[in-house]
Formats: sequence, structure tokens, C-alpha cells
Amino acid sequence: MLRFEDKVVLITGAASGIGRATAIRLASEGATLVLSDVNEKGLAETRAECESLGSTVTSSVVNVASEDEVVAMVAGAVEAHGRLDVVVNVAGILQFGHTHETSLADFERIISVNLTGTFLVCREAIPHLLSSGGNIVNTASTAALAGHPWTISYSASKGGVAALTQTIAVEYGKQGLRANAVAPGSILTPIQQEFALPEGADGSLVYRIMALDEQRGPEVVAGAISFLGSEDAVHVNGTILKVDGGTLA
Ligand SMILES: NC(=O)c1ccc[n+]([C@@H]2O[C@H](COP(=O)([O-])OP(=O)(O)OC[C@H]3O[C@@H](n4cnc5c(N)ncnc54)[C@H](O)[C@@H]3O)[C@@H](O)[C@H]2O)c1
Repeated sequence: MLRFEDKVVLITGAASGIGRATAIRLASEGATLVLSDVNEKGLAETRAECESLGSTVTSSVVNVASEDEVVAMVAGAVEAHGRLDVVVNVAGILQFGHTHETSLADFERIISVNLTGTFLVCREAIPHLLSSGGNIVNTASTAALAGHPWTISYSASKGGVAALTQTIAVEYGKQGLRANAVAPGSILTPIQQEFALPEGADGSLVYRIMALDEQRGPEVVAGAISFLGSEDAVHVNGTILKVDGGTLA
């Protein structure tokens, strides 16, 4: 199925995990790709894998929290490929800790990547997506939908991503631009190395984070993202799609 033939898709956080799996999935569906990440080595590996599937790929090291870098990335994508059809915001970071011990610097660091980064990429891409009749797929989290303890900055950032997505969906929907988000949970990727409960935490409170049946890899989120980004989802706008194997939340 080549749902993304002749489509130019920009993916942030493409060096690892869900971003890499999405790049590979969309390459296999015919997409031309614009890949970015702060991890240069991982980005090059993803690029090579997508090119081996026949995809045309441009890539650049971009910190999504940097306005200048995001502006240059989106402009560069349109300059290189002449259009932009789908934007997938995946870049994100996670940190555990007690709320009352969270520093302002840590709070702002998480917000700046997960929320401000998503905002900046959306803002820059929207004029081009309006031209192409394109769409946005953001990455929220189950942490946006129910209380996940010891992740105050992360949960706040992902709640913001969900609200931002629904705002764009309503604001631009009549102009043909869709915006949706996936809300993954319990996905086996490198970000789970950050899963370290702080001292004194009651581990039984994280039951909501666990899948009801089993944990799966990032390809299950890539499948959901490819659906939302494709014409199959033409009537899906403003949805926050849980991809978590079912949780108790
Ligand atoms: N794995 C899960 O269970 C899970 C659950 C809910 C949400 N998510 C979200 O999915 C997204 C992808 O996470 P993942 O699980 O694939 O983890 P991951 O760590 O494998 O991938 C995150 C990627 O984002 C990149 N990144 C970090 N900071 C960046 C920055 N400032 N600019 C650009 N890129 C940056 C990293 O280098 C990495 O390649 C994140 O937004 C995460 O919050 C993951």
C-alpha cells in the first residue's frame, strides 16, 4: 500500500524509537521524507534504512526547542521538495521525580522540547500544509489523559500537546487541515531508560502506565501515525488516539 506516494512528510525525533519506526513505515508506504533529531548518529542510521527502502530523504540535526532551527528546518524542507504534506512531531524527553523536588530548570527543559517544540514546528508548517491540504500528527501520551505520578513536567507538556492539537484541528479544519495526536503508553523504546521512580515512590501507583496485556515496540505507534497521516483518516480531526494496549486509566 503506497498511501504516501508523492507526499512529503517531515518527522522530528526520527533518530530513535517511535520516530524511527514511523520513518521506516512511511518510507515503505512511498513517502519522501524530511527527518530531524538532535542525535546525529541515530538520524543517519534511520536515513540509511529509509533510503534502502527506496525513499528520497533529506535530514538535518535540529533541536526542536530552538526557534531558529525549526524555522530553517521547515523552510529547508519546502525548498528541497517543493511542498509539505504531513508533519509528525515525535521528538520528546522524559524525566521522573517528585513534584516538590522538581527544579524550574528541569520543568522548563521538558516543556521546551515536548510542548514548545511541537508548537514551533506546527506554527512554521501550517502555511505549507494549508497549501497542500496536509495534516499534522503530534505525539501526546497517556500521561495527558490521566494522572501519571512523578512526571509533572512531562505530563503537563503532553497535556499541552493534546490541547494544542485540538486547537489547530478546530482553527484550521474548515480550511482542509487536519490535526490529530497519538497518545502512546507502555511502548518499548529507549525513552524507557528514564523510567526510574524516585526514592520513596509507591510503585503500585504506576499501574496505569502498564498495558493490560503486553508491552510492544514502536512499530505499533508508527502504524497509528501512518493511519492518521493518510487519506484513510480524511474524516478524523482533533482526535487523541490512545495506543497503549489498553490501560486502566
Ligand atoms: N515509549 C513510550 O512508552 C511513550 C509513551 C508516551 C509517549 N511517548 C512519546 O513518544 C515520543 C518518542 O519517544 P520514544 O519512546 O520513541 O523515545 P526515544 O527516546 O527513542 O525517542 C525520542 C527522540 O527524540 C529526540 N529528541 C530529544 N530531544 C530532542 C530535541 N530537543 N530536538 C529534537 N529531537 C529530540 C531523541 O534524540 C530521540 O531520538 C516522545 O515524544 C515520547 O514522549 C513515548
